[in-house]
Amino acid sequence: MTEQNGLDALATESRRFEPPTEVAKSANVTADAYDDAWADRLGFWETQARRLQWDKEWHTALEWEPPFAKWFVGGQLNVAANCVDRHVEAGKGDRVALYWEGEPEGDRRVITYAQLHAEVCKAANALTELGVDAGNRVMIYLPMIPEAVIAMLACARIGAPHSVVFGGFSAQALVDRITDAEARFVITSDGGYRRGAAAALKPAVDEAVERSGIVEKVLVVRRTGQDVAWTDRDVWWHDVVGRQSDVHHPQSFDAEHPLFLLYTSGTTGKPKGILHTSGGYLTQAAWTHWAVFDLKPETDVYWCTADIGWVTGHSYVTYGPLANGATQVMYEGTPDAGGKDRWWSIVERYKVSLLYTAPTAIRTFMKWGEELPAKHDMSSLRILGSVGEPINPEAWIWYRRVIGGDRCPIVDTWWQTETGAMMIAPLPGVTSCKPGSAMGPLPGIEVDVVNGEGESVGEVGGGYLTLNEPWPSMLRGIWGDEERYRETYWSKFPGRYFAGDGAKWDEEHVLWLLGRVDDVMNVSGHRISTTEVESALVSHPSVAEAAVVGAYDATTGQAIVAFVTPKGHVADDVSSGEAFAQELRNHVAKEIGPIAKPRQILITPELPKTRSGKIMRRLLRDVAEHRELGDVTTLADPSVVNAINEKMGTAGDGTED
Ligand code: WT7
Repeated sequence: MTEQNGLDALATESRRFEPPTEVAKSANVTADAYDDAWADRLGFWETQARRLQWDKEWHTALEWEPPFAKWFVGGQLNVAANCVDRHVEAGKGDRVALYWEGEPEGDRRVITYAQLHAEVCKAANALTELGVDAGNRVMIYLPMIPEAVIAMLACARIGAPHSVVFGGFSAQALVDRITDAEARFVITSDGGYRRGAAAALKPAVDEAVERSGIVEKVLVVRRTGQDVAWTDRDVWWHDVVGRQSDVHHPQSFDAEHPLFLLYTSGTTGKPKGILHTSGGYLTQAAWTHWAVFDLKPETDVYWCTADIGWVTGHSYVTYGPLANGATQVMYEGTPDAGGKDRWWSIVERYKVSLLYTAPTAIRTFMKWGEELPAKHDMSSLRILGSVGEPINPEAWIWYRRVIGGDRCPIVDTWWQTETGAMMIAPLPGVTSCKPGSAMGPLPGIEVDVVNGEGESVGEVGGGYLTLNEPWPSMLRGIWGDEERYRETYWSKFPGRYFAGDGAKWDEEHVLWLLGRVDDVMNVSGHRISTTEVESALVSHPSVAEAAVVGAYDATTGQAIVAFVTPKGHVADDVSSGEAFAQELRNHVAKEIGPIAKPRQILITPELPKTRSGKIMRRLLRDVAEHRELGDVTTLADPSVVNAINEKMGTAGDGTED
C-alpha cells in the first residue's frame, strides 16, 4: 500500500492489452495527435473544427475569461445541416442513418440520410408553424424512437434550444424543468414500449403542463396507439409534421448559440440546467466519436445503448455520430425484452461493429451468464466502449473476452454532462490499455490531479481530478444561475474546473478514476476509494456486483460496509452463510490490503440504482448507518432499497478481525 497525497491508492493492475495490429494499421488517429495538440492546443482544436461545415469562418479560436469560454468566435454554422444536409449533398443520401428496432419483436424502421433530411425539414417547418423560434426552449419527453432524434435536430435547425427529459422521469421532474427553462413547447408521445407493455408518457406531460401553467403547445407522436386525454393545446405530430414541405433552408447560427439545456441532479438542491452551445460542442462530440471509436463511416455499424435523455444520448447518439455520417442502431426497449439475449441478437442482425454501453449493463450480463451472448454471431464487433462509472477490471476483462471475443479493444471513456464530450479515454489504435483504466486525457485536453490544497500531485499520486484548460465542448454555464456555476465547478480550486471525482496516477502515469469524492471513505485516517474496494469484490468469481460505503464506526471513524450481489450460479444457502462473507473479506484483504476489509457484508439480489444506472451510495449509507432513508425520487426501483433495509435490520454487525 502506498500512502498518497490526498487519496490512498491501494489497488494495482499490471495487465496490459496492446492495440490489435489491424486497428493500429488503419487507425483514424495516431500518436501524432498527442504531439500536435501538445505543440499547439488551440491549433489542434481548430483543425478538428474544420471537419465541420462552417457558413462563416471564426476569427478567434478561444476567448477565455475564466470561468467563461467562447470557442470559434465569429464563426457561424447550422448544427442540423452538419448532421444531415451535408451528407446528402455529398451524395450519401442513400446511406442508412438509423436502423431502428422497437421493443416489440419485428417492429423495425430503416431511415437513410435522405429520409432523415426530409423528416427533419418537415419537423422544423412544423415547429415554426407552431410559433417556435430561436428565442424558445423546447422540452422533449419521448421514448427511444426516431422522432426523438428528428425532434432534437429540428430544434437545432431553427436555433431553439431543446431540453430532453428522460422518459422514465416523473411529472414532478418535468414541472421543475419546464419552469426553470421557461419552456412554452413540449414534444412527447402517447407512450412507449418498456418490458413488453405500452407505458404511457402523455399523462405525465398533461399533469406537468397543468401545474406549470406556461406551456402553449404540446406536439404528440403516436407511438403505441393507447388512449390519451386531449386538449386544445395538443397537436398530433403526424397531422402537423405530416403535412409540411420537406424543403427547409437552414439558417446560420453563431458558434456560441445555445444548442441545448440538459438537467442533471446534483447531490442536493434543484436540478442544474447544464448549457451547451453549438460550434465547440459539435467539434468535440464529432471528433471524439470519430477518434475514440475509430469510426469508418462507410463500413462501421455503431450502436450506443444510452437513452437520449442522458448526455451520452445527445453526444453519441444524435450529434457526434450523425455529424460523422455514421450508420447506427437505435433500440427502444429494455435489455431483457423478448429474451435476455436481445442485445446480442441486435448485434448479430445489424452486424454491429462499434458498441458503446455502461458498466452497469455489462455487470448485469455477467450475472445472466455467458451462454446468452455465446448463442450469437458477434464477429462483426470491432471496438467496445464503456461510460458512466468506473468499470471494474473484472467487468472490463469479461466485456473483452465474452462480448469482444478477445479481439476488440475496450475504450473506457470518462466525461460528464458538463464536459459535453469525452475527455479521458484511450485511442484504440494507439494505447496499450490496462483493464479498468480510462488511461489518460485525449489530445487537446489538460487534466491535473491535485491534493486538498490544489497542488498538483505530480506524475504519481491520488487526489482530486481537475481540468486546467478550457475545452471546446465545456458547459457554458448553469441556466439562469451564474453564481451556482462558479460555486459548483470553479470555487474549490480557483482557476481550475473541479469535476467532483477522485483520480490517481499509478506508477506508470496511467490515470484511474476513483468515483465521486463524496463517496470516499475514511478508515482510520486512510482515504479509501469505494471504487477500488468494489473492484476487488467483483474480482471474486462468485460476485456479480458490489457497492461499498463508509458507515460511522466508533473505532475507525468510518468502517467499510459492502453490499454484494452474487452471480447467478451461487446457491442462496452458500451466499447467505458467514463463510461466504469471510471468504470475500479475505479476498479483499488479499487484493488490496487488510485496511480495506469490509466490516460487514450484506448479500442482496439487487442494488439501488438511479435510472441512468448509477449506484445510489447515498441511500446505502443511510441503510448502513440505520438512518431514515433520504430522497428516493431518482431511484429506478424503490422496492430494492426497502428490501435491503429490512435485511440490514435483521443482520448483525458482522465479525471484526
Ligand atoms: C460522472 C458524470 C459521461 C456520460 C454519462 C454520465 C462518472 C462517467 C466514467 C468513466 C469513471 C465515470 C464520473 C463522472 N463517470 N464516465 N469512464 N469512469 N467514472 O454523465 O451523469 O454527468 O455523470 O459519471 O463520476 O463525474 P453524468
